[in-house]
Amino acid sequence: MSVKTSYKLDIPAEKLPKHVAIIMDGNGRWAEHRSLPRFSGHRAGVETLRSIVQMSGELGIQSLTLFAFSSENWRRPKKEVGLLMELFMTALGREVTKLHETGVKLNVIGDLAAFPAKLQKRIKESMRLTKNNVGLQLNIAANYGGKWDIVQATKKVAELVKNGEIDSADITEELLNDHLSMSDQPEPDLFIRTGGEQRVSNFLIWQLAYSELYFTRALWPDFDRDEYAKAITSFAMRQRRFGRTGAQILESEQRENA
Ligand code: IPE
Ligand code: IPE
Ligand code: MG
Repeated sequence: MSVKTSYKLDIPAEKLPKHVAIIMDGNGRWAEHRSLPRFSGHRAGVETLRSIVQMSGELGIQSLTLFAFSSENWRRPKKEVGLLMELFMTALGREVTKLHETGVKLNVIGDLAAFPAKLQKRIKESMRLTKNNVGLQLNIAANYGGKWDIVQATKKVAELVKNGEIDSADITEELLNDHLSMSDQPEPDLFIRTGGEQRVSNFLIWQLAYSELYFTRALWPDFDRDEYAKAITSFAMRQRRFGRTGAQILESEQRENA
């Protein structure tokens, strides 16, 4: 019998991030520290992924975006790239039924055309299966690059201009935004990068414009529920000002609470 656990944090719901985006980094080093092949780190990373997805659902987070493979990761040794593709394929096959049962809606973002046909097919089937689910929105960024995203959105907008549907003067931030990946979801409130590096590595660049950034030295396979809770607690304690002053924010909070 499986016991369903529920992670409770002492944080009011309105202080929780609606959308969390994570660079899952440090798998290779985790394995190297144990004198294991890098691939064991990626495999261990899938276990972490499963528990973070589950905890996000339990906390009532709306969207979770995970960076699984960047447009730059093709530069890795062929063997590692191949093993990563296989892992993606088997993990999707193994996890999707469970995700579906728990109401997760799966969305894979990135330039999927570069993936093996079999993998593309499995991705499409998984997205189709879960498309009407209303629980956690899980976005997996695969062959994704923030610059690619802006270019693909720009191409769509250029088509509209070319077809005479809009004038170039009609191009606004909102219009470009509408053509980016995940435009149907709130922008990430919280960005987490594990593994100790403090860089964005061409992950979401437009969408992170006002995200709160959280970096941890924990390697992805070691990023457990307590580490995730620490990141969310750090987020909940921050004052988001969006250009306003601290006093303005306090005033509007007091007005809301009155
Ligand atoms: C992140 O872990 C996973 C992928 C990029 C697929 P890394 O493989 O980058 O791990 P490190 O940074 O070498 O430790
Ligand atoms: C970013 O990690 C990509 C993913 C986690 C999928 P990398 O480990 O590839 O990033 P860099 O190259 O060290 O910046
Ligand atoms: Mg890395």
